[in-house]
Formats: sequence, structure tokens, C-alpha cells
Amino acid sequence: MFAVSAVRIDPKDSLSGLELGERPEPAARPGWTAVTVKAAALNHHDLWTLRGVGITEDKLPMILGCDGAGVTDDGAEVLIHSVIDARDGKPSILTEAYDGTFAERVLVPTANLVPKPDVLSWEQAACLPTAWLTAYRMLFRNSGLHPGGTVLVQGAGGGVATALIVLARAAGFRVWATSRSEEKRARALELGAHAVFESGARLPERVDAVMETVGAATWSHSVKALRPEGTIVISGATSGGMPPAELTRIFFLQLRVVGSTMGSLDELKALVRMCEATGVRPVVDSVLPLAEARSGFERMAEGEAFGKIVFTL
Ligand SMILES: NC(=O)c1ccc[n+]([C@@H]2O[C@H](COP(=O)([O-])OP(=O)(O)OC[C@H]3O[C@@H](n4cnc5c(N)ncnc54)[C@H](OP(=O)(O)O)[C@@H]3O)[C@@H](O)[C@H]2O)c1
Repeated sequence: MFAVSAVRIDPKDSLSGLELGERPEPAARPGWTAVTVKAAALNHHDLWTLRGVGITEDKLPMILGCDGAGVTDDGAEVLIHSVIDARDGKPSILTEAYDGTFAERVLVPTANLVPKPDVLSWEQAACLPTAWLTAYRMLFRNSGLHPGGTVLVQGAGGGVATALIVLARAAGFRVWATSRSEEKRARALELGAHAVFESGARLPERVDAVMETVGAATWSHSVKALRPEGTIVISGATSGGMPPAELTRIFFLQLRVVGSTMGSLDELKALVRMCEATGVRPVVDSVLPLAEARSGFERMAEGEAFGKIVFTL
């Protein structure tokens, strides 16, 4: 079957290890179901894999893609929850221990399948299980925000960040966002942000919570943007993971720093229901046939995308 795989790790030239070509079909396993993939979304995680973050050479070649939606052999239309529980209690996400969704077929634990509602297109459904689920947990489990509270989303253009803006707006929060790009700031306003700012800009007032996925480039600003006892929820560090910690400000203002990763199967089901109930839909930057995946990877690596890059089969 046709698939997009990581065949080599190169932290400096990540795309050199990307291979498009034939791979064996997944072999049947008890308790697992094969899904014929209809659409699969690209995540920054796929670039990290090519750079050797969260994976070692001995696991290669690995089919990439931790987001996907498709059809089972029984004809059920499904989204794939990407968090795989291991017997040792240490969960992984697809592409860390098991092949991912950038392929004609993917094998996943049957318990990880969530029915796809008709109101979501294949492209939209494929965006929910990783970036959108991560945003859902950040906002609704970990932020401590209530409707009317103010949230700052750093790096507005990202897959997780666009999800944060849309979901926060739908939940009744006051939504502020930053971006390096004037064009992306304008698009964040169109998505529902109440106000937008240049990265690092002084804000009119301090916020109740900050959603961080950018890391080093925005961390100091995130700490300074918070009101006393406010919360930073962090799920990513695209620009680097070792910024100055700003410890004095954190303890003196009694700030909370909360780590967040992915979300549970029940949270994914709730996210699907939220999309149905509110009418919100994933923000799709571009749709490409899987055979043209390389140009999608290049677009993400260059930071050009606004929302999700989706591959179709
Ligand atoms: N913990 C988890 O479960 C989980 C799940 C999903 C993602 N993540 C992590 O979260 C991060 C974002 O993922 P994603 O898929 O949303 O990535 P993405 O779509 O590539 O978005 C990254 C965004 O970060 C901003 N950015 C990047 N470098 C920056 C810099 N130097 N200065 C300022 N802003 C910068 C950009 O926003 P602007 O151009 O608008 O400024 C960009 O759009 C990744 O590191 C990913 O690994 C973690």
C-alpha cells in the first residue's frame, strides 16, 4: 500500500528522512481493527518524529500521521483516537510505537474508534483527534477558565492554536491571540478572536489564562501576561523547550503552570459532540492528496500554514 514514512532521523534536515512509497499492509491483530484511511491531518509531531524526538532509529521505518478518519471493513465511518494504551501502563500515540495514518490502511485498537458524524467532512474529522483534542483538554480540563474569562492564545496560526481560538470563542471566553504575522493576526480575528497582538506586545490588561504551544519564543510574555494566580497551560514548545523559567514571577504572583498532553477517548467524543452542538468546525489550511504530502510538510516546517494541513486518499 502507499504510505508516507520516516526512514531516517536528521535533526537538522528533517525532510531528508521522509519517504513516499510502498509499505506492507498492516497484519491483523486480535482486538485491533483495520481502517481504510479517507483523510489524515499533519501535526508538528510528524516533524518532531523526523527530527528524532520521541522515537529512536531502531523503530524506523515508521509510517507517519497521528490524526485520521476513515472506514472500517464493516462500513463504519470513524475517527481514530491516537492514544494507544500499553500493557505497561505507558501510553503512546500513533507513530511512536505503532504505524500511523499516512497510509491507505492503518491498524488501531478497536476501542479507539469513535463514530464520525455526517455533519463533519472527512477533512474536518481528521483534524480532531490530535490538535483539536489537545486544545479541548487545555481549555476545558486544565485552564480553570469560566465563561467570561480572558484567555491569551500564543502563535495564532498553529493547528492547536486555531483550535484554541475557535473552541474558546464557542465556550464564551474572551479570546486574545498573538501571531508573528500580520496576515495571521487578521485571520485570527475572522476566526473569532476578540483582539489580536504582535508576538510579545504589551496587553491592555492581564489575562486569566495563557495557552502555550510556542515555547521559548513566547514564554516570558506568557508569564508576564498573567494576572496573579492565573494559569499557563502548556502542551508544546515548537520554538524551544528551555527558555528562562521566570521563577520569581511564578512564585511571587502564585501562577499555575499546567502541562497538558492529548486527551482521553471520552474527551474526543465530547469534542465531536461540541462540534455538532455549536456548529464549530476545524480550521483547514489546505488539502492535498497524500501523494503530495512532501509539500505539506514543507509548508508546516516553514511556518506558513494557518490551521490544519490535511492529506486525502
Ligand atoms: N502535548 C501534546 O499532546 C501536543 C499535541 C499537539 C501539538 N503539540 C505540540 O504543540 C506545538 C504546536 O503544534 P501544531 O501542530 O499546532 O504546530 P503548527 O501547526 O506547526 O503551529 C506552530 C505555530 O507556532 C508558532 N510559532 C512557531 N515558531 C515560532 C516562533 N519562533 N515564534 C513565535 N511563534 C512561533 C506559529 O504561530 P504564528 O506564525 O501565528 O506566530 C505556528 O503557527 C508543537 O510543538 C507540537 O509538538 C503537543
